Amino acid sequence: MAEGKAAAAVREDRLWQRHADMAKLGGTPKGGVNRQALSAEDAAARNLLGAWATARGFSLFTDAIGNLFVRREGTDASARPVMSGSHMDSQPTGGRFDGMYGVLAAFESLEALEDAGLRTRRPVVAVAWTNEEGSRFQPGAMGSAVFAGHNRLDEMLQVKDWKGVVLKDALAETLKAAPAPLRDGPPGFPLDFYVEAHIEQGPRLENEKKTIGVVTAIQGSRRYIVSVAGEEAHAGTTPRAARKDAFAAALRIAQAMYEATTDRDDTLRFTIGRVDVAPGSPNTVPGKAVFTIDMRHPSDAVLDTHEKKLEEIVAARAAPCTAGIERVTAVAPTVFDPAVIDLVRAKAGALGLPNMDMPSGAGHDAMHIAKLCPSGMIFVPCERGISHNEIENATPQDLAAGARVLAEVLAALANR
Ligand code: GLV
Ligand code: MN
Ligand code: MN
Repeated sequence: MAEGKAAAAVREDRLWQRHADMAKLGGTPKGGVNRQALSAEDAAARNLLGAWATARGFSLFTDAIGNLFVRREGTDASARPVMSGSHMDSQPTGGRFDGMYGVLAAFESLEALEDAGLRTRRPVVAVAWTNEEGSRFQPGAMGSAVFAGHNRLDEMLQVKDWKGVVLKDALAETLKAAPAPLRDGPPGFPLDFYVEAHIEQGPRLENEKKTIGVVTAIQGSRRYIVSVAGEEAHAGTTPRAARKDAFAAALRIAQAMYEATTDRDDTLRFTIGRVDVAPGSPNTVPGKAVFTIDMRHPSDAVLDTHEKKLEEIVAARAAPCTAGIERVTAVAPTVFDPAVIDLVRAKAGALGLPNMDMPSGAGHDAMHIAKLCPSGMIFVPCERGISHNEIENATPQDLAAGARVLAEVLAALANR
């Protein structure tokens, strides 16, 4: 296969326009998106991707957890596919590139192979994984985790969102609104390589004036829910000593946790991103408080140590309330395949793109697929490293550069 032909067929204008088209689905006034998993906006994005795929003659199918696949056939009917993609769901106040870029860069690669008239031995599949963000339904990276066999389909279908909507029902509604042929059987099929493109979501590439991040690893991540139970009481009459104030206990617990997770070199990441207080009345002492914890570190042992500390804090600081901590996700650190890493670096170099090796601070669907087959990731810069924010931004040039590297990498892997 002619070196560089796939990259040369990547069209910056087309890729940029596709981002603009997708950004209208769930578009927010500040220029971001609210396209949470299995919402009407998610269904609209699925339909748009499906329409583009069908127009190009690619086949489209979904699976029992709603992962959406676009397949370009190879010349060897028995060859296992090479896959690339990411997610189309967003944070409640998300940007237009987080996840969507990886899906559109994969789709652009399929189109580039087609436009360049390049046949590949293996099929190349673009994928949009269901519910990567995990902000509406926990855990995140759900579609890829079920595909990889790391989460059970039957358990995930029973998960509820914060309003009590059951995932199974939201999925059924989404697939009704965005129909695609259903692949029979449990999610998952054999594949030989997986490469995911994503915006960096941090400032390193921009600071170091590099266009491509050659991703070597993803740090481990865990999520927890802390539930505190107290007793509702009248805000005007109940003396301090007689109160079981669930929010006050949650605050004590949270404060101790922030202190216990502060490390000198600022490697451990600890976030309380959601707090719910019930009954939520200004003049009732809260009887219930629930908050989420997202904790990450490159070492699983460090996460273990800190998990123990969190448990001890919950046990020690809850009185006079009662409290519990439940772990909802634990994903071990990921180390990507050296051969895929080398290939990404080589293709970026051959295209003359300044690049650097780097680990990922954010989680990605690739962390699950990397357990199935040799995998890797390609990062491109985003403005000031800002992500999980409506103002997230990236340049058409950088997005196209990443897609060129991806197209070359996929073309090479698809002929192995
Ligand atoms: C994905 O958005 C993550 O939380 O890393
Ligand atoms: Mn993402
Ligand atoms: Mn994200």
